[in-house]
Amino acid sequence: MSIQRTLSIIKPDATRRSLVGKINAKIEDAGLVIIAQKMLRLTKEQAKAFYKIHEERSFYEDLCSNMVKGPIVVQVLEGDNAVKVYRDTMGATNPANAEPGTIRHEFGESIDLNSVHGSDAPETAAQEIAFFFSQIEICRE
Ligand code: CMP
Repeated sequence: MSIQRTLSIIKPDATRRSLVGKINAKIEDAGLVIIAQKMLRLTKEQAKAFYKIHEERSFYEDLCSNMVKGPIVVQVLEGDNAVKVYRDTMGATNPANAEPGTIRHEFGESIDLNSVHGSDAPETAAQEIAFFFSQIEICRE
């Protein structure tokens, strides 16, 4: 048993279609607890900084443009093995390859408009959580 935290982003394509409640239900049905959550709008500079790891990739500019098209909901999720559990709950990056029942299969429109982001490892999760949240915003028991 390893209690972890992971960062989730509900992306502009999903907030535009009012999918926050449905996505949160899938998160909670997976046994993850939302211990911090807020809605905000990224600037282009902030989107570029968050996704800096992808700056050499061909999709970087489109990715950053898509992330500033509307509000996002950023969340800290906690639970046993939370990083992997949330990645399994999201499904494959490309919704066309995502398993039925996963968030991206149900709601994703394309690889660019895939509704959610989740951290890929505990170390990345710590960095991504710190990008959006201060300690005082994260609920503890
Ligand atoms: P996300 O989990 O937010 O991480 C980076 C995002 O880039 C990814 O989801 C996709 O929305 C987007 N993307 C576009 N093309 C690709 C690609 N070929 N490989 C990975 N991610 C891609």
